[in-house]
Amino acid sequence: MTTSAYQENLKQLTNRRIVVAVTGGVAAYKAAQLVSTLVQAAAEVRVIMTENAHYFVGETTFRALTGYPVASEMFGQLPQIEQDHISLARFAEVMAVVPATANVLGKVVSGICDDLVTTTINAAVGPVVFAPAMNEQMWRNPITQRNVSQLQELGYHFVEPEEGWLACGEVGAGRLATTEKIVAALAAVLRKPTSSASLWGRHVLITAGPTREYLDPVRFISNPSSGKMGLALAQVAAERGAEVTVIAGPIQLSAPPGAQIVEVESAEEMKAAVMQHLAAADVFIGAAAVANFRPAQRADEKITKCGEGLDLHLTPTPDIIAAVAESDHRPSVVVGFAAETQDVEKNARQKLTEKNIDLIIANDLNAPGAGFGVDTNEVMILGREGSRQEVSRRPKIKVAEAILDEVERLLSAAGDIE
Ligand code: C5P
Repeated sequence: MTTSAYQENLKQLTNRRIVVAVTGGVAAYKAAQLVSTLVQAAAEVRVIMTENAHYFVGETTFRALTGYPVASEMFGQLPQIEQDHISLARFAEVMAVVPATANVLGKVVSGICDDLVTTTINAAVGPVVFAPAMNEQMWRNPITQRNVSQLQELGYHFVEPEEGWLACGEVGAGRLATTEKIVAALAAVLRKPTSSASLWGRHVLITAGPTREYLDPVRFISNPSSGKMGLALAQVAAERGAEVTVIAGPIQLSAPPGAQIVEVESAEEMKAAVMQHLAAADVFIGAAAVANFRPAQRADEKITKCGEGLDLHLTPTPDIIAAVAESDHRPSVVVGFAAETQDVEKNARQKLTEKNIDLIIANDLNAPGAGFGVDTNEVMILGREGSRQEVSRRPKIKVAEAILDEVERLLSAAGDIE
């Protein structure tokens, strides 16, 4: 490999989130060289180890190289270091198993998840690259070869071991591939969108949660929106490879992996943040429950009790989604929500036309298991050109999948997706 090809590959790794899983073979010490190279390439690296890997190399080495704790236990240790198999599996844009022993290959192909490494591989959202290293007999063993073929058929990637000096004193195939080759394999899988990355290269801008409209420094008008629907959309869009920005009112949830959150409070602030991010967006989804009115005056000091009533004068907030739809930077697809308590479909269709948007997701707030705060939703997806799809009650993640399927259909109809 030429030096410039190697430099190009290293560049691909900048800011990419990589989990290196170290398993128990003599070549485990070489994983330290790889991790150091990845860190120098400005990748975000986390290391996990099997129990047996500790016989060959220490956690301290990897902690020093990455600046992060090393996880190897499924239980107990996890709360301290805030890494569990699910968050690591989602964190990883790619996982590198270096070295991969015959044992780990056998377990993964059989679906065994009996430690942090095998469980994280099983739960991985992104691609997994195995760099096997073992004694030549073990590498040539038909069981190992069958496992490798099956894993390849399942979409796992391999950096083949090389011929050379093996720790068992023999010369043959089974030596860990060079760092350069492993880096090249990681760069290649990161370059290539996976088949499920149907929104790869797209930017999805989402509003989520409620807004707060203050009448004085401590009191506000708001609603019980939890932001769950907006964040479910963010999670699915990120899993499909999109770059995702969420403009969120005050919510208790954190950003799903791969999504960025911008925190705001009022409708005015939400609008300003949306407009700031609009030019880059291909899709806008207004999942926020934006307050339609705000107090006309915001008192500078807390309004004191005086034993009498208080008349509040309310004034409309800006309609963010309508502003998005008429902007010069209008994204190809604009999606709104209509949370209604009566005449759901009629009112939703009216909003679709009035706000000049492409899809509206109609919610009946009276339906059980739908709307604010709950984990499920039941919606109707109405399209500007008359399409109508009923999505029965299901987890918000599944509803998000149905909505994004429809978004993708519109993007491809607009010629934006191959
Ligand atoms: O008019 P209504 O509030 O029912 O419309 C709901 C849709 O419009 C949602 O998608 C919501 O996010 C969006 N909206 C907005 N700005 C507002 C009010 C609603 O973007 N001020």
